[in-house]
This record gives sequence, structure tokens and C-alpha cells, in this order.
Amino acid sequence: MAKIFVARALPGDAIERLRAAGHEVTVHGGSMPPTREELTAGVADADGLLSLLTDRVDGELLDSAPQLRAVANLAVGCDNIDLAAAAERGVPVGVAAHVLTDATADLTMALLLAAARNISQGERDAREGRWKTWEPEGWLGLELRGAKLLIIGRGRIGQAVAERATPFGLQISFTGRDDDLHAALAEADIVTLHCPLNEQTRHLIDDAALAAMKPTALLINTTRGGVVDQTALIKALQAGTIAGAALDVTDPEPPPADDPIYDAPNCLIVPHIGSATATTRAAMGNCAADNLIAALAGEPMPTPAPAPPSA
Ligand code: DGY
Repeated sequence: MAKIFVARALPGDAIERLRAAGHEVTVHGGSMPPTREELTAGVADADGLLSLLTDRVDGELLDSAPQLRAVANLAVGCDNIDLAAAAERGVPVGVAAHVLTDATADLTMALLLAAARNISQGERDAREGRWKTWEPEGWLGLELRGAKLLIIGRGRIGQAVAERATPFGLQISFTGRDDDLHAALAEADIVTLHCPLNEQTRHLIDDAALAAMKPTALLINTTRGGVVDQTALIKALQAGTIAGAALDVTDPEPPPADDPIYDAPNCLIVPHIGSATATTRAAMGNCAADNLIAALAGEPMPTPAPAPPSA
């Protein structure tokens, strides 16, 4: 029997699976993440940690958990975990890969359609008395057929977005690590981000990248807020350097109430819900449970995190 600390209550039957595998499971209660102190106390005598993207797992935390033998993140992204520190201490890390591809690609399309057709502004206008008549020139959006969609990142979610965007008649191109990003941005009508957040991609979309985009272009972000320099994005939206943005992710999350991102023009924001379907969240829990059960039995995790850059 191993002791497992789970950083939040989870949908689905992940906790039951861990218990059925014979483990003693402690679940952090409440709807907010554990504080640093609570997380440190939670892992102090734990063999396994089921972490969320809101939990920072670094060398200091790992050093406060001398028995820890496995970390399973309830996310495909693992920028909240210092993978090198875990590798140095021999602690395997797992991610919820594969299972959230469809849900995240679906939400990307929802944001893309909403941004292209002014859904958020239109909804506010309809409710707040600004819908006076059918306006031949009102709420004009972007025709998708023939528009150029640039997908940044060649992984599973980007591919799934391409699969969904194809029937809309979008002209799709991908760009990755070795391509000329600014040249690709200059051609695109819609840019959607699907690369992980790491040292190479932090602020990939900065002042210069935004300046390279068309003034009519839209930016969609369902990966991590840190891939975009949010100050630069706010400036670009205010100046009309680009036409709009739709964000599932921000930096930080959530933005504080007085963050200027809320007042940026043509900026739709939703609260990091890319994977938020009941089916996907249950599957993510199962994936994390399977990673812990395997690692605690001394077996390889079914869906390990990528190797740290230096490994
Ligand atoms: C992930 O898994 O990285 C997602 O952002 C969670 O929705």
C-alpha cells in the first residue's frame, strides 16, 4: 500500500481506482488549490502525488517529499512541473496525454467561430439594447471559406483542429520549431496556438510577432497564457495591430479583477475550459490514476511526461 496525495477532488472514478488498487488516498478538499504549505504538508509522507496544473512541483517541493516515487499531472501540459528536478531525483512524471485532444480541439473551434463572427460582442449588444435593427453593415465577421488558418504546433491537438477546420473551407498551414514564424504569421487570417509552454515558446507571440500579423487577423490561444506576451497583446488589440483574440488561457490565471486584458477590445476570454467536458475530465483522472498505479508498482507510466530538455 502506498500513500497518495491528490491535490483536488476529481470528477469520475480516479480516486476509487486508486483505493481499489490498495492505496491510501488523501484528497485536498475545497474548490481552491492547496496553498504551498498545504501541498508541502500533503506530500511530506506521500509516495505518490496527483497534481493539477495549478500546483507548482519543483525541486523544493520534491525535497520535502522524501518518499515520493511518482507524480501524475491531471493535464497534458506539464509546465507546472520542473521535469529536470524530478528526473534528478528519480521521480517519474506522468501526464494526461491523448484523452483531451478532442475536447480541446472542439473548444478551439468554438473560440475560432466566436472570434470570427463577433459572437461575444453580438451577445452583449443583443442583451444591452444595442440591437436596433437588422444592420447590413453591423457585426460583420470573417468568412471562413478561403481564409488562412495558421496552426502553431504540429502535435495532436493542432492536427485535431485541422481536421475540424477543413470542412469549413479554411486553408490550413502549420508552423513548428524550425520554421520562419513571422513569415507564416504575415500570411494568416487566423492564428491558433498549440505548442507547449517551455523556455523556447514563452512569449513566442511578442510585440514583433503581433506586428508581423495582418491588422485583420485573429489570435486564438487554448494552450498556455505564457506563450503570449499578454502586455504586447493588449497593446496590439488597443492599437488595432490585430483585429481580435479569443483566449482560453491567460497569464496569470485568472487575471486579477483590474487586469487590462479584460478591457482590451475584441478580446474574448473563457476560464481555461479546453478540457472541460465531463467525459474528458473523467478520462484525465483515469489517466493520472493509471500513471500512479503503474509507477507505484515499479512499472513504466503508460503516458509519461516528455523528457526534460537536458536529459
Ligand atoms: C492541459 O491538460 O494541459 C489543459 O490545459 C487542461 O485543460
